[in-house]
Amino acid sequence: MTRIALRPAINEAAEVLDRAGVRSPRYDAEELAAHLLGVQRTRLALVPLVEPELLERYRDLVARRARRIPLQHLTGVAAMGEIDLAVGPGVFVPRPETELLFAWTLAFLETLPHDHRPIVVDLCTGSGALALAVAHARPDAEVHAVEVDPDALTWARRNADDRIADGDTPIVLHADDATDPELLTDLNGRVDVVVSNPPYIPEGTPLDPEVIDHDPRRALFGGADGLDVVRGMLPVVTRLLRPGGAVAVEHDDSNGSELAALLGKNGEYSDVVEHPDLAGKPRFVAATRTTPR
Ligand SMILES: C[S@@+](CC[C@H](N)C(=O)[O-])C[C@H]1O[C@@H](n2cnc3c(N)ncnc32)[C@H](O)[C@@H]1O
Repeated sequence: MTRIALRPAINEAAEVLDRAGVRSPRYDAEELAAHLLGVQRTRLALVPLVEPELLERYRDLVARRARRIPLQHLTGVAAMGEIDLAVGPGVFVPRPETELLFAWTLAFLETLPHDHRPIVVDLCTGSGALALAVAHARPDAEVHAVEVDPDALTWARRNADDRIADGDTPIVLHADDATDPELLTDLNGRVDVVVSNPPYIPEGTPLDPEVIDHDPRRALFGGADGLDVVRGMLPVVTRLLRPGGAVAVEHDDSNGSELAALLGKNGEYSDVVEHPDLAGKPRFVAATRTTPR
């Protein structure tokens, strides 16, 4: 059977996606082709010709992406740190910006003395992204992950099982509410780092179709100012952290200074720092649990 050039099909797909309003049309067109071919996007040039049947499947996939189904729901994977996570309907798709929170967590863990096994808690874990990426990078850490939504937990369990199969240290998954005053009481005052990418979008914020139609609502919105879940979580975080331990919480562009103010309020935290993302937008706040005098 005559094989057909792939590149013109990718160019056409990029135009289709651009017209549909997709934010990164060429990247997505290439990712979908790479996914079907089972190669990395950067190696597509090594596959100049494809079977007509593959092109047909490619056009189907592009048509679905043009209907604003998230790219990661079509490929079935999203990345965090060094690992891939299975994602799809029912779970929040991990975002590249959360890599900053992940990198901060690893850097903080590096500063700890080597006199104990570090304990990390990921509140609102979704697919397990942060918890599993930390467990992969730091096999010496004891990592706990908390998630309230049963559908998200199903994805987190699947990802946790995949990581164990790949040889990573198992994490401990907790089906629980991150604002529960009784959450993880056996870890009181013993946790080195709490990380969280919680629901933080202010209610009513306009969102792309990929987000509003496909990420679970509970993963997105955090009340009028976006901080409802964070406010509920903070007493838990404060109770869990050891003196000198740290917390880092991702937030919306609009509510970073309020989050920093919440952390700075009671004198229970020092070094409250607002961290920007690569575009210079405020992205997460980190703070250190004070040592009692
Ligand atoms: C923005 S998503 C982030 C998921 C993951 N941390 C990530 O970065 O991909 C927020 C997650 O918090 C969960 N969630 C919302 N409220 C929660 C609560 N009160 N306790 C625990 N999890 C909660 C949602 O179900 C969702 O999975």
